[in-house]
Amino acid sequence: LRMKFWCAMAFITFVTLVFIGSEIKMVFDKFPKKQPTNIPLDDSNATEKMAFKRLLSKLGAIFSQDQEEEEQEDLAMNMNGSGHKHILLMATTRSGSSFVGEFFNQHGENMFYLFEPLWHVKRFLLSPAGARNTSVSSVYRDVLQKLFLCDFSGLEKFISPPPQQHVTTDLFSRGSSVSLCDDPVCTPVIKHVYERYHCKNRQCGPLNFTLASESCLSKQYYAIKSVRVIHLDTLKPFVEDPRMDVRIIQLIRDPRAVLVSRMVAFSSLYEKWKAWAQQGQVPEDDAEMKKFNKRCDHLRVSAELGLSQPSWLKHRYMLVRYEDIPCYPMQKAEEMYKFMGIPFSSQAREWILKNTHTTRKVTGLYSTQRNSSEQSEKWRFSIPFILVQVVQELCGPTMKLLGYKFVEDKNTLTNKSISLLEDKVFYWSRDPSLAVNLQNTAGK
Ligand SMILES: *[C@@H]1O[C@H](CO)[C@@H](O)[C@H](O)[C@H]1NC(C)=O
Ligand SMILES: *[C@@H]1O[C@H](CO)[C@@H](O)[C@H](O)[C@H]1NC(C)=O
Ligand SMILES: *[C@@H]1O[C@H](CO)[C@@H](O)[C@H](O)[C@H]1NC(C)=O
Ligand SMILES: *[C@@H]1O[C@H](CO)[C@@H](O)[C@H](O)[C@H]1NC(C)=O
Ligand SMILES: *[C@@H]1O[C@H](CO)[C@@H](O)[C@H](O)[C@H]1NC(C)=O
Ligand SMILES: *[C@@H]1O[C@H](CO)[C@@H](O)[C@H](O)[C@H]1NC(C)=O
Repeated sequence: LRMKFWCAMAFITFVTLVFIGSEIKMVFDKFPKKQPTNIPLDDSNATEKMAFKRLLSKLGAIFSQDQEEEEQEDLAMNMNGSGHKHILLMATTRSGSSFVGEFFNQHGENMFYLFEPLWHVKRFLLSPAGARNTSVSSVYRDVLQKLFLCDFSGLEKFISPPPQQHVTTDLFSRGSSVSLCDDPVCTPVIKHVYERYHCKNRQCGPLNFTLASESCLSKQYYAIKSVRVIHLDTLKPFVEDPRMDVRIIQLIRDPRAVLVSRMVAFSSLYEKWKAWAQQGQVPEDDAEMKKFNKRCDHLRVSAELGLSQPSWLKHRYMLVRYEDIPCYPMQKAEEMYKFMGIPFSSQAREWILKNTHTTRKVTGLYSTQRNSSEQSEKWRFSIPFILVQVVQELCGPTMKLLGYKFVEDKNTLTNKSISLLEDKVFYWSRDPSLAVNLQNTAGK
């Protein structure tokens, strides 16, 4: 990327020089000849002056254009002085976002990472008091925007019970954020208070948002993982906020795998699906199906928007398929860090190494390195085929866009030597010719 940038700059400089050269030549070709006689010096000076003025204004135009381009480049590459980066990992439930979030959470002392802060907002919006609020996505966005600026006041309003003097024992999944459990945010435990969400490897006092905010302000990089943002376009106002350098990574996963994972994790919400699987038949039309179909469509609409690279998202959007990670976790992480413009740290590298080649305890023995792409394909052997058909029906265009292959029979589904993943690269490069051609992939 850097190479390309310098190449582009060198080229612009070259073109400018050639242009200046030819302009100067034109000016001197025109005027020195006239200088010797006839024309009064005053007039000659005036003409010359005008010519130089024209030249200057032309050069000015080139330079200001250059400057504009440079400013845009600066914005894109963030050589804006501060070097702060703001990363939103946007996903849906059960698509591997906790795992991928760790790639950032484990980055080290320059990273401030928050895990699902919008959980509180969602809970409020589901309550009778919140149900009246019609502009859900703008509430989410406003809280996120404040959090990226280390302002917790927006979030505090939604925490129940309300924090006292900006201190709470109830921040959802505090323990999933290294930044909220590290010094100095981890305060000594003075007296025992019941904490709903503990730090994992150490005991900390209740969370003091004032301290969290101070720590946040001292960091250079910010990452928030959220499954709550549904529509990419609702983020436009904060992507364009000049105080931030926002990048969005949309993480997606095969909807068939997501269904299986949800049926296990949120079992009681999926009774209908389980019944369909048992009966071996599905109703023509059902509210649950409509919901699943809508979810898939939302995913696709956001992905299409991001991949179409509108100017406000240029170089700020990256689409990652969860399935592409287990095969090459280190390369994928590296690619994400490159996109974010954040140096890939040795701590993050170590974490990934440890957690993608995990050993598994098997009756007292440790098996050899587990093949994590095999793990991510396990759903193929547990999903009833009829549900595969339902999902393919409900999510067809989304699956096509994202490169998930349809299967027509159970043998194909369970044949390990057949991959259900199309080789597909979703470029985030500044070279538009590398962008995915939506015409070829979208549509029914
Ligand atoms: C015109 O230019 C000449 C030198 O090129 C200079 O000596 C002269 O003073 C100028 N005249 C005016 C009126 O600016
Ligand atoms: C970054 O650039 C924008 C627009 O060019 C500017 O408004 C903002 O103050 C800059 N931020 C910093 C930290 O310099
Ligand atoms: C929705 O919530 C936002 C943020 O808390 C608030 O500013 C707005 O007034 C609410 N709107 C309604 C209609 O309750
Ligand atoms: C929270 O931390 C701030 C900053 O260190 C401190 O001034 C404040 O007293 C703390 N709040 C409580 C309730 O301990
Ligand atoms: C893991 O399994 C997949 C599919 O079975 C295979 O393509 C891949 O090469 C395996 N990787 C390793 C490291 O064994
Ligand atoms: C699995 O697919 C491969 C490649 O299409 C085929 O050669 C093989 O016979 C299939 N295996 C079974 C058990 O159907």
